[in-house]
Amino acid sequence: MIILINFFLKKNRYLIEILILLILVDIFKMSKLIIVSNRLPLNITIENDLLSVSSSSGGLATGMRSVHDKGGSLWIGWSGIEEENLDLNLNKKINNQLVNENCASVSLTKTEVNDFYYGLSNKTLWPLFHYFTEFSTFDNNQWESYKKVNQKFADIVISNLTDGDRVWVHDYQLMLLPSMIRKMNPNVTIGFFLHIPFPSYEIFRIFPWREELLNGVLGSDLIGFHTYDYERHFMSSVKRLLRLNINFNQIVLNDRNVTVDTFPMGIDYDKFWNAAQNHHKLKNNQVSDLQKQLNLHIDSLPSNKLILSIDRLDYTKGIVNRILAFEIFLETYPQYKEKVRLVMLAVPSRSDVPQYKKLKRQTDEIVGRVNGKFSTVNWTPIWYFYRSMSFDNLIDLYTSSDIAMITPVRDGMNLVAKEYVSTRIFKKGVLILSEMAGASQEMNEAILVNPNDLNSLANSIKKAVEMPINDQITRNNILQKRLKRYNIHKWANDFMSSLLKTEIQSDSIKSIVIGIKENKKIISSFKNAKNRVLFFDYDGTLVDFNINPALAKPSNKILKYLEKLSMIPNTHVVINSGRDEAFFRKIFWKL
Ligand code: UDP
Ligand code: G6P
Repeated sequence: MIILINFFLKKNRYLIEILILLILVDIFKMSKLIIVSNRLPLNITIENDLLSVSSSSGGLATGMRSVHDKGGSLWIGWSGIEEENLDLNLNKKINNQLVNENCASVSLTKTEVNDFYYGLSNKTLWPLFHYFTEFSTFDNNQWESYKKVNQKFADIVISNLTDGDRVWVHDYQLMLLPSMIRKMNPNVTIGFFLHIPFPSYEIFRIFPWREELLNGVLGSDLIGFHTYDYERHFMSSVKRLLRLNINFNQIVLNDRNVTVDTFPMGIDYDKFWNAAQNHHKLKNNQVSDLQKQLNLHIDSLPSNKLILSIDRLDYTKGIVNRILAFEIFLETYPQYKEKVRLVMLAVPSRSDVPQYKKLKRQTDEIVGRVNGKFSTVNWTPIWYFYRSMSFDNLIDLYTSSDIAMITPVRDGMNLVAKEYVSTRIFKKGVLILSEMAGASQEMNEAILVNPNDLNSLANSIKKAVEMPINDQITRNNILQKRLKRYNIHKWANDFMSSLLKTEIQSDSIKSIVIGIKENKKIISSFKNAKNRVLFFDYDGTLVDFNINPALAKPSNKILKYLEKLSMIPNTHVVINSGRDEAFFRKIFWKL
């Protein structure tokens, strides 16, 4: 290229300008990453005809936001508003807002939100994949809507796709999307990541459209899970339901392989650590109202303790068990009354689904009962917030709490547990974590608990309250090192480099099923070639596999064919094998 420019420099200035322009066009056409998830990182609502924009809650949105903010990606998802509530003017405003954030929206009608989002995604797949089989409903209309909406997403992805782009699809709402995209553009590179558990085969097989769902995800080149257990369960379902061959972590399809791997999602560690440090430097007149309220408890007695719990209000999060365990703790260890307080943030979620409505009623009732039972003039045992909080307020909660109690009954990963540990700038603080959260597999230094064993949960609170400072420091040091290293950027980089590896692999292993057309082409190319080299594999090709490899010898017919081929002028026959030379000498010495 440089030589070209030098050459033109002497000859024609005009041509150089065109050349530079072409290079610039090429740079600006650079490939991008298309992130696709049901939720966008920003959630838009309409209040009194005005748009209100807030951050979406949930691990997928917070985690991927840090990846998206690094640039070079377009995020496609649903804005959170139903199509019927939009007029031209609002639509324009939303699109402007989304373009500023490198996002594009897929619009959903009220019926689609009902059937696809509340229905198949959150009344069927979510409970089933979290082992709440009794909550799962199976409705054919909702399945039809799930397919239709996945196709809507596929159309928008394709309309935004340019050569060289890669697509990264996220979560259970879009499991058919990879194969729909591949059908419309067979050469695009597609990754899929499941943010929730993949259940065991015994649970997954209950799903009526199980084969279609698996085939949908298999449109990807790479499929990622948070833990090895979820990966194992997925492989087992693929093997038993689709009867596909599996070679280590590769699923072998007719024309390509699909790689399956484990990528435990991390957090934006530095963001939380730095926010905690900045929070510590705030002057009294700079702190939030929430922090002032928290300080009242902290300052009233140095030995007072705050226990924090943060989750979306979801039955998978074990919120009711947690409150019951706190009640047992106060009853069993009354010396901690007026000293220990549970601060519970429950973020509203999927409130149109009956199970979530029921959980809200249950939670309100139990919080009310426990507070009524133990409250004194100076102390309410549970502070309960039912709303989502700003990032700054989350940091207020994290940094002010002595203990975080994160005890889901089933959770794909749980980022809150990791975020709490990353705000321990003085290394103090105890994490009580459920064994059923994916995060527990990387956080052995936490107090690990079975969320269904209420007495043991209550005792774990006592253990956390009484844990010596040195013990806390040792545990947090180890946890923080790990979280800092395996942060969200490392997670995304690992996934993307595995995805790029699949591109190289698929170039080298692309196989074609030979039919009549291919046969004719091979014969005519063979006839027309001036020189020919024929490569043959040995075991499994020229001979059948044999338990005793010494007995695996080609038939006379095969030997004759090989001999004939090698006699054709300008034709070489090469046998490619891991066996030693002596073995082949014995077999082929006559040829
Ligand atoms: N979160 C939030 N606003 C809130 C409370 C929590 O954005 O008011 C975030 C929190 O910081 C975390 C995420 O929501 O990153 C929850 O992720 P997690 O993996 O713990 O659970 P999920 O909601 O995805 O099941
Ligand atoms: C979990 C799921 C996400 C989902 C989030 C919030 O993190 O894995 O896919 O976006 O919950 O739920 P919502 O239904 O509000 O999108």
